[in-house]
Amino acid sequence: MGSAVVLGIESSCDETGTGLVRDGRLLGHALASSMAEHARFGGVVPEIASRAHLQSLRPVVRRALDDAGLRMSDIGAVAVTTGPGLSGALQVGLAGAKSLAYAPDVPLYGVHHLAGHVAADTLEHGPLPDPCVVLIVSGGHTSLLLVRDLACDPITHLGDTLDDAAGECFDKVARVFGLPYPGGPAIDRAARGGDPGGVAFPRPLTGSRDAPYAFSFSGLKTAAARWAERHPGTRLPVADGAASLQEAIADVLTRKAVAACAEFGVGTLVVVGGVAANTRVALAEERCLAAGITLRVPPLGLCTDNGAMIAAVGDLLLRAGAEPAPLDVSVDPSAPLRFAALHPGARAA
Ligand code: KG4
Ligand code: ZN
Repeated sequence: MGSAVVLGIESSCDETGTGLVRDGRLLGHALASSMAEHARFGGVVPEIASRAHLQSLRPVVRRALDDAGLRMSDIGAVAVTTGPGLSGALQVGLAGAKSLAYAPDVPLYGVHHLAGHVAADTLEHGPLPDPCVVLIVSGGHTSLLLVRDLACDPITHLGDTLDDAAGECFDKVARVFGLPYPGGPAIDRAARGGDPGGVAFPRPLTGSRDAPYAFSFSGLKTAAARWAERHPGTRLPVADGAASLQEAIADVLTRKAVAACAEFGVGTLVVVGGVAANTRVALAEERCLAAGITLRVPPLGLCTDNGAMIAAVGDLLLRAGAEPAPLDVSVDPSAPLRFAALHPGARAA
């Protein structure tokens, strides 16, 4: 199957992202964010996000084309996030993608958002080895996966979070600590100069009888809230709290990811999603080095939501000869991650 310039569109949450990829190479990308509009509500407001996508989509497509030095007529395929995410936000992206694909009659692919996070790494570090262990840590998901051929093969879940996602834990604890939204980057900044051993936060589900690859972060969130409550009227030592929380999350995540690589005899760990931007991913570096595992983390700008990662999946699907999405493809706001493509036809390819 030949290659073509693939336009990727991401609109599942508060970022409107576009990217252009051909043959695994990122040609250009652009991003608009409505994050500032949600900040005063302490979380993403779906209606505000949808309207922002509607306003941003066309200019963001234009900016990606300008970035790549390409024209609309150069686009040979369109890939769009069809789930999971906010229903209205996804629908804006899909409607735009349909019009951009059907007018010039180029193929359209519906992509799983989390597969996009995985593929983001290929834009910097080349094709993923088969197999590899992938740790996805985003605002809504925390999963440890065994990935073979991302375009064709089913994705095996070794473990998932039983409650909150790692990013959600960062976001919620940041609120309790009086830090701004989004909480992950705020905790990361606040942790500088803090003592990572200053507060003895728990390491959930790391006992010998616990499920080895399952995660749980709601207890950690509660422990952080209780700790904050113990400082009424006094100044909260936020730096120590932030550093200790970050350490606890990084410790649990990397411990389990490295153990999975060892158990399944896999030589490469890929850490992706917004939380992969955290400073304490350094702990994964130390542990992978000690265990002889190659660690791959996408560049910071491609860790959080973007359109380039969706284009990267579209490019893989196109080159694998996957069947494009039908005209009536729709969004799936709670789609489980089983395949990179969300429309069934593509999986038979
Ligand atoms: O992958 P992403 O951009 O969006 C989702 O698909 O959810 O992830 C967003 C999450 C948020 O919870 C945010 O707080 C977290 O990633 N995050 C971070 C950092 N940057 C973003 N968490 C920890 N440290 C960071 N530096
Ligand atoms: Zn994401």
